[in-house]
Order: sequence, then C-alpha cells, then structure tokens
Amino acid sequence: MATPLTVSLSINGETAEAISVADGTEPLLYVLRNRFGLHGPKFGCGVAQCGSCTVHVNGAIARSCITRMIQLKNGDEITTLEGLIGTNEAVPGPRNGKSIDLASRKGPGAVLVRRSSNNKQLNAGTARMP
Ligand code: FES
Repeated sequence: MATPLTVSLSINGETAEAISVADGTEPLLYVLRNRFGLHGPKFGCGVAQCGSCTVHVNGAIARSCITRMIQLKNGDEITTLEGLIGTNEAVPGPRNGKSIDLASRKGPGAVLVRRSSNNKQLNAGTARMP
C-alpha cells in the first residue's frame, strides 16, 4: 500500500518546500530527474551497483536509485552533479589528469564519490566505484 509523504529538502543549495509524493517508496532519483529536471544523476542498474545515480545526502554518498523518499527527513541537503560543478561538461579528474565524461552514465557517480565531503556512505556497501 502506497504511503503519501511530504518533505522539505535543500536541493543544490535551494530550499524545495513540501515535496509531495504519492508513495514514500519512490526513489529519490525519480524525484530529482522528473520533478526537478536534474539529469546529472542517471538511471543505470537500479540496484546500487553502477554508481550512475550517485548524489550526496548531507555530504554522504548515496545511490539515489535505492534511496527512498521516506528515508529522507526535513532539511536534508541533496547535492547532485549540477550542484557540485554547475556544468555538464567533461572536467579533469583528480587522478592522473584523465578527464571524466560527465555525459556517460558512470561519469557523474565518479565525480560525486571523489568529491564527497568525508567519503561517508548513506547506503552502506553501495558506494563501490564502477
Ligand atoms: S542506477 Fe546504478 S547505482 Fe543507481
């Protein structure tokens, strides 16, 4: 049975008041992409393995494909690739000067994992890099 939910979040530094979902088990990924037009997080595997949907939740790495809206609380800070770098172009990687193709499904996850504030993982065991 679907459980409606309303939550207020900070998304890329802007407050999003009263985000309502008909089913609290809706993945954060769908809300970010479909409601807010944030396409940095991408759907890849859908089972927390590929990293293409990676975001930060309060600075911790999270796979938004398995992060349910009901897991979030008022005031949580969500950062997507757009909020982190403000562009969808390739940027130099921090290791060995290789660039990361942000248009690929794996690129955004790689950037967000490398730039997490403290490398914490919201979803334990799911931050494995592709
Ligand atoms: S879509 Fe692959 S980890 Fe989320």
